[in-house]
Amino acid sequence: MTSITQTHARILELFKNAPQAFIPGPELASRTGVSRTAVWKAVHTLRRLGYEIDSHPRHGYRLVRVPEALIPEEMLPLLQTSWLARTYHHQTTAASTNDLALQMAARGAPHGTVVAVETQTAGRGRLHRPWLSAAGEGLTFSAVLRPDLSPQAAPQITLVAAAAVAKTLRSLYGLDAAIKWPNDVLIHGKKAVGILTEMQCDPDRVRFLVTGIGINVNETAAELPSRTRYPATSIALELGGPVNRKQLFAVILHSLENEWDRYFSGRFNELLEELEDLSAVLGRRIEVDCSGEVLRGLAQGFTPQGALRILCDDGNERVIWVGDVTHVLTFH
Ligand code: BTN
Repeated sequence: MTSITQTHARILELFKNAPQAFIPGPELASRTGVSRTAVWKAVHTLRRLGYEIDSHPRHGYRLVRVPEALIPEEMLPLLQTSWLARTYHHQTTAASTNDLALQMAARGAPHGTVVAVETQTAGRGRLHRPWLSAAGEGLTFSAVLRPDLSPQAAPQITLVAAAAVAKTLRSLYGLDAAIKWPNDVLIHGKKAVGILTEMQCDPDRVRFLVTGIGINVNETAAELPSRTRYPATSIALELGGPVNRKQLFAVILHSLENEWDRYFSGRFNELLEELEDLSAVLGRRIEVDCSGEVLRGLAQGFTPQGALRILCDDGNERVIWVGDVTHVLTFH
């Protein structure tokens, strides 16, 4: 599933260390430790994967262009993680990466398996809303997690993931990224990231979880969904130009691993402190749709478990586990 052959990896490394230069076939063979026929076959396979490779009868081979797709050959050399995405599966399209990851998890895929696609035909969000993304422009992936958790703790996994993504967007690009509790990341108040965690569990224990993350990266305004409840944006739109999607993916995976490691080691309280700064709703007047009941009031804070505390306009304090912040209201 994950493995790229050693030969492919080594040939790509040699090409990338000598940008635009021709490398003779015999040199590729000796430095890779395989026959010239094996090099020829590997070049053929790499071309099929989307690598543009020139060949010249006397000079050998030269890498001209690498594929944009998030294929393992491109992603694995960039990874800095120890367990996340070490089992990595990519395909061009799928109905939903959450579906794929749930199926893989049910068949025994290990903790940390990541499934990424270029486009989904039936991507979904919370409350059965569709998640739409332009092919090859965003990041669309799901991770299989096998933590020792009670099912009630599952929403915390989403919050931790949202924090990892928001922090990455702040540190990599200096963007004003903030978490719209419980599962969105906004940039300058517009939605750029959605997260959906689904699970299979026994009555008291999670069997496995799948956390799916969709990030609008290089979409233009025309490529973003227009009829959403919340205005949408992409990283490129907020920065005024496209970003390196593979690099961003690798950094996000690293950040997710760090944040989930911290959480799995029992330090959710540290994240709660950081949420003061990372949250787009704390201290604001908000409107929340709780399964049809609409609450308006001041977002006061989080419980130690990560539920939202609201001081409602009627004076009652409410603790919300599942809800949809539909508006961040201005005070008056
Ligand atoms: C939301 O906005 O409510 C959450 C959106 C989650 C979208 C991601 S994209 C990858 C994964 N696959 C899906 O079908 N959904 C999640």
